[in-house]
Amino acid sequence: MGEDTASRTPEEVSRRLRAQTPAVLHAETRGWSYFDGPSGTQMIGAGIDALATHARQGLSNRRGYSPAGDETEALIAFARSEVAALFLAEGYRVVFGQNMTSLAFSLGHALARQRAREGTSVVVTELEHAANVDPWVQPFAEKGATTRWLRVDRESLAVRSEDIEAAQDADISVVAVTAAANAVGVMPEIAPLRELARRSGAAFVVDGVHVVPHGPPDVAELGADVFICSGYKFYGPHVGVALVRESLAAELPAYKVTPAPSGGPEQFETGSQNHEGIASLGGTVAGLGRLVESPNGTGARAALRALGRQEGELGTSLVKGLRAIPGVEVVGHDGGQQYVATVAFNVAGRTPSEISQALRSRGVFVTSGDFYASALAARLGVDVSGGWVRAGVAGYTTEDDVARLLDAVTTVADQPRARREPA
Ligand SMILES: Cc1ncc(COP(=O)(O)O)c(C=O)c1O
Repeated sequence: MGEDTASRTPEEVSRRLRAQTPAVLHAETRGWSYFDGPSGTQMIGAGIDALATHARQGLSNRRGYSPAGDETEALIAFARSEVAALFLAEGYRVVFGQNMTSLAFSLGHALARQRAREGTSVVVTELEHAANVDPWVQPFAEKGATTRWLRVDRESLAVRSEDIEAAQDADISVVAVTAAANAVGVMPEIAPLRELARRSGAAFVVDGVHVVPHGPPDVAELGADVFICSGYKFYGPHVGVALVRESLAAELPAYKVTPAPSGGPEQFETGSQNHEGIASLGGTVAGLGRLVESPNGTGARAALRALGRQEGELGTSLVKGLRAIPGVEVVGHDGGQQYVATVAFNVAGRTPSEISQALRSRGVFVTSGDFYASALAARLGVDVSGGWVRAGVAGYTTEDDVARLLDAVTTVADQPRARREPA
């Protein structure tokens, strides 16, 4: 489907995104900075407009005999083709759903129906969000399959090659891995995990939720049989997207009501979909595409990749700045592995939620906790201390935002802990 070359610099693309993101412009007037993109980004205006236009012009459910019915069919088709271009997803079905987690549960049940049995296993890594663990593990476990965890090295955050090696001869039905860890930003090396899946004929599932806003992969090159992401993490609405390799989808026995289509993406789209959200998703991807002047229909791909490069630069100064603050400890980001610009850190003597509250009162919005990356929190020993503070650089983040965050952390880290009231 062609090149993803952008004719604008990453900085220009970032500036244009910011100018077209109303909530961020509103935040600017209040002196606020959003660093909670890993939890969810603000919406680009094009996505907001597409939703409003659709609702204003008239809604209809599928196959309605009215202009609104035609419009609904057209916007779904448009959103599917925009999303396919975003991931160069030739040979994949583009399936919409409520969110990543629901799509994963639905596909996990279908996969288990097809191939779960005693003696087989599901392989997951300690970097995963629980949404890329339980939807595969639970339906397989119900049919007697086991779970194999690939551990993460505490220092490098690499998935341990010894564990991958030890799984080589196992009977494996699913290998599930994230393309970027939502809690700490590390991007695991995908090739050995894909190889592990291929060796045993397992379905190779990639959680793309955290990577897409920083640069959408080419799904075929990634080798994913299933790739799932969520629109609200890349400047769009709360709509989940699963790309399912056609050859797998054709064989997969979906759980669905009997009269619903038995083929196509609709097979996996149970019930009526969020058409307003899908309208918005199509509008979001098209709007991202217009941030760059791209020679073909893959503009959004070029835009997100350019934004990822811009974020990388800001992320580097954020990490450097945080490391220079006494008492602050940053997780990872020290060479060896690739990262997106998501930074988890802790401040000595303070809980992550205390720090996040204190930053909030200074107009700097981060998040705290384990972000459902429970296995990683346990591996790194922060499960008992409230997890991490997480600051995510988004495509609309500026140098001023980063400076504001660093100033605020410096002040907060220097303050004595709030005195607790006696119980
Ligand atoms: C890496 C990752 N995977 C999966 C999910 C779950 O996504 P959703 O909220 O769309 O179910 C999240 C949500 O934060 C995430 O960060």
